[in-house]
Amino acid sequence: MIRENGTLPLANKRIALYPGSFDPITNGHLDLIGRGSRLFDRLIVAILRNESKQALFSVPERIDMLQEVSRGFHNVEVASFNGLLVDYASEAGAGVLLRGIRAVSDYEYELQMALMNRRLRPSIETVFLMSSEAHSFISSRLVKEIIGLGGNISGLVPPSVENKLRERLLGEKR
Ligand code: PNS
Repeated sequence: MIRENGTLPLANKRIALYPGSFDPITNGHLDLIGRGSRLFDRLIVAILRNESKQALFSVPERIDMLQEVSRGFHNVEVASFNGLLVDYASEAGAGVLLRGIRAVSDYEYELQMALMNRRLRPSIETVFLMSSEAHSFISSRLVKEIIGLGGNISGLVPPSVENKLRERLLGEKR
């Protein structure tokens, strides 16, 4: 129910959680954040703290990068979590998990996770957005590989992230 002043009571706010590794954030992720921020009242971008997975950037570094590039979206916040995603979503009051699908190859993994998450917590829905065609081939893994081999990644990640990648992988100081 919408109040007279046009705002929604907190309990009715649509809060979505966009989870991932974001090591680092790409323009594909950023596109999803922008579209998610228009669909939901609040969007929490949550980085998985996974000690067993070797990451290029630490969780605080990834939080900084995400905060910097999503500053323009008034209803987006950045957080990190460990443990089960559905537990964290419940704690954060999120009723929706947002994920992107780039190609058919993403579908099986995403379907498995969505069904498992639904089994664990039926009250939480997973919502998928199709990647824009301009971003459907971008992945954090490929971006790291290409820049490490001297290739051009401009347009694939935000400029501030490209600088961080150059610093970390090529030793360039900016
Ligand atoms: O960007 P990624 O690496 O594809 O994101 C995967 C992520 C973080 C969404 C997934 O690994 C996850 O949710 N991990 C948290 C632990 C969990 O809840 N596992 C069960 C998922 S069905």
